[in-house]
Amino acid sequence: MNNNYRIFNKDSLEYIKTMRTNSVDFIFTDPPYNLNKYSTGNIKFSHRSDINNDIADWDKDFDPLDYKEEFLRILKPNGNLFTFTSYNTIGRWHEVYDPIFDTFQFFIWHKTNPTPKFMKAGFLNSCEMIACMWNKGHTWNFGKQNEMHNFFESPICMKPERLKDPKHPTQKPVKLLKHIIQMATNENEVIFDPFMGVGSTGVASLELNRKFIGIEIDEIYFKASEKRLALL
Ligand SMILES: C[S@@+](CC[C@H](N)C(=O)[O-])C[C@H]1O[C@@H](n2cnc3c(N)ncnc32)[C@H](O)[C@@H]1O
Repeated sequence: MNNNYRIFNKDSLEYIKTMRTNSVDFIFTDPPYNLNKYSTGNIKFSHRSDINNDIADWDKDFDPLDYKEEFLRILKPNGNLFTFTSYNTIGRWHEVYDPIFDTFQFFIWHKTNPTPKFMKAGFLNSCEMIACMWNKGHTWNFGKQNEMHNFFESPICMKPERLKDPKHPTQKPVKLLKHIIQMATNENEVIFDPFMGVGSTGVASLELNRKFIGIEIDEIYFKASEKRLALL
């Protein structure tokens, strides 16, 4: 059993206040995208599972500003903050965090098998953005120039990795998370995910011999994380 993690079934904004100052090397997270208000509802099919168009009830009212003070307090001075985000929230991340980090960039995850759009009335949502912020003295484990692209290609999370019960609508593939963790941290460093869902960042962190702290507000997703991490 791996003892290098602590996870909590709490509201992260509350829990984070109890964390030690300068105790985290890397905040790597996947908070709500605020896409719920653009939903046109799920689409039902007889021959396949529903196309999940509305993501989830939790996907609303997230303001990166609410976490600014606590993120800065718990992060070490040379720590990094990477966060999945969406086209309509990346501007807010930039507005709030660019003035306080040395560098703000973005990274693209290209999904090779995005959800189809049968009406062909717009682009597929095949790219997901990760806003990346770092300070001087940060860790970059790059080898060659071609390892430094801010782009990664992989399928969305599929069987057998994809959990069936509970099914989380935005479970991230561990392969993608490991690629990023590997380049932005060293072994034994502390990774914090305040919106951990079913614990994918935790799995990737522990498999790479990093330490992990995770928080999830939903009890069902939290229990799924507990189960996954206990297997490592
Ligand atoms: C985009 S999902 C993360 C998915 C995760 N990356 C995975 O692979 O499973 C965001 C998660 O944040 C959780 N969440 C929303 N508000 C929260 C809060 N205030 N504190 C903790 N978790 C929260 C939601 O329940 C949801 O599971």
